[in-house]
Amino acid sequence: MTPSLTHILHGADYNPEQWVNFPGTIDEDFRLLRKAHMNSVSIGIFSWAALEPEEGQYQFTWMDDLFARAEKDGIRIVLATPSGGKPNWLAHAYPEVRRVTLEGRREPQCERHNHCLTSPVYRAKVRTINTQLAMRYGTHPAVVAWHISNEFGGHCHCDLCFAAFREWLKAKYVTLDALNEAYWSRFWSHTYTDWSQIVHIDNSVHGLALDWKRFMTHQCRTFIRNEINALRPHSSGPTTTNLMPLYDLYNFWEVAREVDFISWDSYPQWHTVSPELDETVVAQNTAFAHDIFRSMKGSQPFWLIETTPSQVNWAPVSPLRRPGVHRLHALQAIAHGSDAVCYFQFRKSRGSCEKLHGAVVDHVGHGETRIFREVTSLGECLEKLSDVVGSRVKAEVGLVFDYENRWALEASRNPQNENKSYPATVLDFHAPFWKRGIAVDVIDQTADLSAYKLVVAPMLYMIRPGFTEKITAFVENGGTFVTTYSSGLVDENDLCFLGGFPGPLRKLMGIWVEETDALPDGFTRQVEIVHSGKPQTYAARHWFDLIHLEGAECLGEYREDFYAGRPALTKNSYGKGRAYYIASRNESRFQDDFLAQLADELALQRAWPADLPHGVSAIVREKGEKRFVFLLNFIDRKADVSIGHQIFTDMETGAPVSHLLCLEPFESKILQAA
Ligand code: GLA
Ligand code: ZN
Repeated sequence: MTPSLTHILHGADYNPEQWVNFPGTIDEDFRLLRKAHMNSVSIGIFSWAALEPEEGQYQFTWMDDLFARAEKDGIRIVLATPSGGKPNWLAHAYPEVRRVTLEGRREPQCERHNHCLTSPVYRAKVRTINTQLAMRYGTHPAVVAWHISNEFGGHCHCDLCFAAFREWLKAKYVTLDALNEAYWSRFWSHTYTDWSQIVHIDNSVHGLALDWKRFMTHQCRTFIRNEINALRPHSSGPTTTNLMPLYDLYNFWEVAREVDFISWDSYPQWHTVSPELDETVVAQNTAFAHDIFRSMKGSQPFWLIETTPSQVNWAPVSPLRRPGVHRLHALQAIAHGSDAVCYFQFRKSRGSCEKLHGAVVDHVGHGETRIFREVTSLGECLEKLSDVVGSRVKAEVGLVFDYENRWALEASRNPQNENKSYPATVLDFHAPFWKRGIAVDVIDQTADLSAYKLVVAPMLYMIRPGFTEKITAFVENGGTFVTTYSSGLVDENDLCFLGGFPGPLRKLMGIWVEETDALPDGFTRQVEIVHSGKPQTYAARHWFDLIHLEGAECLGEYREDFYAGRPALTKNSYGKGRAYYIASRNESRFQDDFLAQLADELALQRAWPADLPHGVSAIVREKGEKRFVFLLNFIDRKADVSIGHQIFTDMETGAPVSHLLCLEPFESKILQAA
């Protein structure tokens, strides 16, 4: 179920309950909303104390007024459940709702997002307030979606959580023998002889530490389910919850299964990279995050549900977004598949810890500010993009970035502890596609691979159940698979595969990895790779697998150290497809050359008919025969983009565009293919 939208949603978190002593504020806010060409507000996030000031005493009048006002002005409402922040009365009356730290201390009532996910009392209280909200507003025509809680995160170590964890483990393993076997617990005499001994997380027992994160993910899922179950008898509206990029305490791919559509909070730190680099670093990182969230539900449109139109206040340093950068940032989200651009927040709060966080309306109180004007001009632009709503980004490349693999790899104690760098490595494999305008889905091991021509899975240390069969069938049927060093070492319990690495992928890859060298940062070894018949030399670092060929052909060799002459890149023909193994962590130039060559060989679709200059990204969204091309210049310099023979229409001006397009610094264009 996706929200029914006829326009791109342009909205903001809105908390008028903070302004009750300032009469006229709501009227003024709605005037300013319309002036800024905004069409929605997200309300109720952190409003529990205003909705239920005392246990069982509800105050909905202020929200009723807000609904009436929004309906009158045609503003859509994203209605939040308030569980992200618990009221004082609740936290004091029921201490069990407060989290317990790793060290066993119950937290005082403070901050937010720190409720116990297991507490039956908290779940019951959430059900009650959600039921009240749904009964009152669940069928209101202004409601476009339910926003479940806020930024789920963190772990609780209370007795309730551990009791539930033990039950979850019993259901999973049935017997302690099976658990001990999965945890290899005879090691260091860690054998569990009674379930009651599982009362904390011993990070040296890797299987246990993995299960704990799986369990916390499960608790997050059932917590969300509990919230939605309370809404459902009274409302059938689509649900979402705002996720965070690269957050790893829960597996968001699993959490995402509980909601109808994906939304996420994007706060890239523009203008903070060192002067010798440029904004492409931030742009590509952000693109990667968008590609993750778009891919979580099979490329269904997602929402950029929070961003700031200017600065944040929680980073070490927060530069102002340079003119044009807010629009660029917003259009990047739309380009990657978002149907919404929403802010935190509409009116800057006067007090407490987010009073200096960017907002649409500043403390000055009017719309005569640079930020307000930029938001307004973006709003005017978004109104011209209604056709884009519901269109899809179609990717032929699946790039695996698997959270369970990440947990396991990061927890493992191995010869290269200092430079595991899993996220950075996956990003390095994303960049060559991004800069060529080739769409990439960022997927985990549970994804359906059937839409892809190419699947790339760097550092696939853990092979989860089912993946071997899926990737083997994919290659057999003509797909191309690329993996690297540090792959195929362990199963889902973090138990090493016996019989030679890369474990279950050994036959598909046609190699055996006998040993892996690890060298400190700063040490390099040369590898020589043959691309299109020409040898090229690259510097490799950190990881060096020593391979035996078992059917694969060698496309490159190490040039240094005692393993000079051993394979550094292999290719195995398997069924109708091919499987490549990259043995060492090579400089980025290698990823660029290698993936560009594969992209050519596989004739991967590009968003733009010609080569793109440095810093310019192109992405296509498609709907039926329609193709919407987003052209984004992320650098502070003019960029000339040649167009080839195609003709486009500028979606904002309606003007035809052909031959050459000159983009101003940070300029962004949306073109429709004629
Ligand atoms: C998160 C939260 C918001 C707000 C912003 C500030 O995204 O969801 O409530 O705190 O951060 O950047
Ligand atoms: Zn707990």
